[in-house]
Amino acid sequence: MAAQPRTGQTTATTHWQRFAVPYEFPVVFTEGLFDPDNPVLRDALCRLEPVKRHRVIVFVDDGLTAAHPELLESIADYARRHADVIDLVRAPIAVPGGEKIKSELHFVESMQQTLFDLHIDRHSFVIAVGGGAVLDAVGLVAATTHRGVRHIRIPTTVLSQNDSGVGVKNGVNLHGVKNFVGSFAPPFAVLNDLDFVAALPERDKVAGMAEAVKVALIRDAEFFAWIESHSDHLATFERSAMAKMIQRCAELHMHQISHGGDPFESGSARPLDYGHWSAHKLESLTRSHVRHGEAVAIGMALDARYAVLAGLLAQGEELRICALLEYLGFELWHPALAKTGVSGELVILEGLSEFREHLGGELTITLLSDIGVGVEVHEIDHGLMRQALDWLRDRASA
Ligand SMILES: NC(=O)c1ccc[n+]([C@@H]2O[C@H](COP(=O)([O-])OP(=O)(O)OC[C@H]3O[C@@H](n4cnc5c(N)ncnc54)[C@H](O)[C@@H]3O)[C@@H](O)[C@H]2O)c1
Ligand SMILES: [Zn+2]
Repeated sequence: MAAQPRTGQTTATTHWQRFAVPYEFPVVFTEGLFDPDNPVLRDALCRLEPVKRHRVIVFVDDGLTAAHPELLESIADYARRHADVIDLVRAPIAVPGGEKIKSELHFVESMQQTLFDLHIDRHSFVIAVGGGAVLDAVGLVAATTHRGVRHIRIPTTVLSQNDSGVGVKNGVNLHGVKNFVGSFAPPFAVLNDLDFVAALPERDKVAGMAEAVKVALIRDAEFFAWIESHSDHLATFERSAMAKMIQRCAELHMHQISHGGDPFESGSARPLDYGHWSAHKLESLTRSHVRHGEAVAIGMALDARYAVLAGLLAQGEELRICALLEYLGFELWHPALAKTGVSGELVILEGLSEFREHLGGELTITLLSDIGVGVEVHEIDHGLMRQALDWLRDRASA
């Protein structure tokens, strides 16, 4: 029965609506995903309806097709070989790779037009094959068309396999703000193929490793030690070390989402975003010329030094972190960090309030109290942060 409290002259009747929706989706690591003998994609499509012929549309990152000119045909061929369950409604479509696809809404609109023209319904599949940017944009298309079409992600970069691909978010940039338009929408399946990573440019292989160092630093000291002891193999992109690094990193991200208590980030905290407040600002200051992972590496080094100056982290640990990042191939300084605004204040520090605004609530920054232990703080001393920035710059020029 509904309660009817009297509030002055008015009455208010409140009925509490409550329900919980369980989510589950497979995250598969394989090789040769589009080899017709590999059943992973077929099985993913048939997971809920094994005997149906599924309508499928595929959007593919054009940076990926440039590196693998045969890919569009391989996907079409896979569909032909599995025509009993796959109805590819159109030949796979190449879309702009990298931040370009997230930079303007018309890419989203044009993909939605294609879905409209092809009568894609809520039980059809929209598959995205590509880096984190393409997955974010196609994910938004899938989540908003008919309020949600089944979506399969096939991440093809280190960063999208070990981090963004297993997440539950999508989005594009608007008004110069990263991910201003987006939603939380868990995918139907995530299928990772190590072969794509092997063919990535070295710069992107290095960049993606930042997320592994990050999640190790805040959650798993043993994993951090493993990265240190395998840094020779990782710095030369040795296949089995890369595979292990990607899978452990993805596992730790998945654990946070399923067990962290806030998968859709309603609180003020984003525990996995260690080193990210300055990284997001640095990315926008450089118009994404600095890759996400590269910016995160700098952000982690900065916040490690800050934690030492603030008395949270033992002196010397920041050196250990910087040494590992540099060994893996990261540069830990960028001139944009020294840029000042009209007030003379460092522009990078605006990243703190922007980070808060994106999440809402109070400022919550994850710092380290030890390797493997992230702690949340709600205030950042700008003076100490300036000192940390000076330290990074001096190290880089030494
Ligand atoms: N949704 C989330 O939870 C989340 C989390 C972290 C990052 N992101 C987003 O991910 C994006 C970054 O993703 P990224 O690091 O994967 O980079 P990216 O998507 O920008 O791709 C980098 C470049 O590599 C190309 N490419 C992709 N796969 C390739 C391959 N196998 N071989 C050769 N070239 C290939 C792309 O065309 C692009 O030019 C950012 O937009 C970031 O905001 C999203
Ligand atoms: Zn990140």
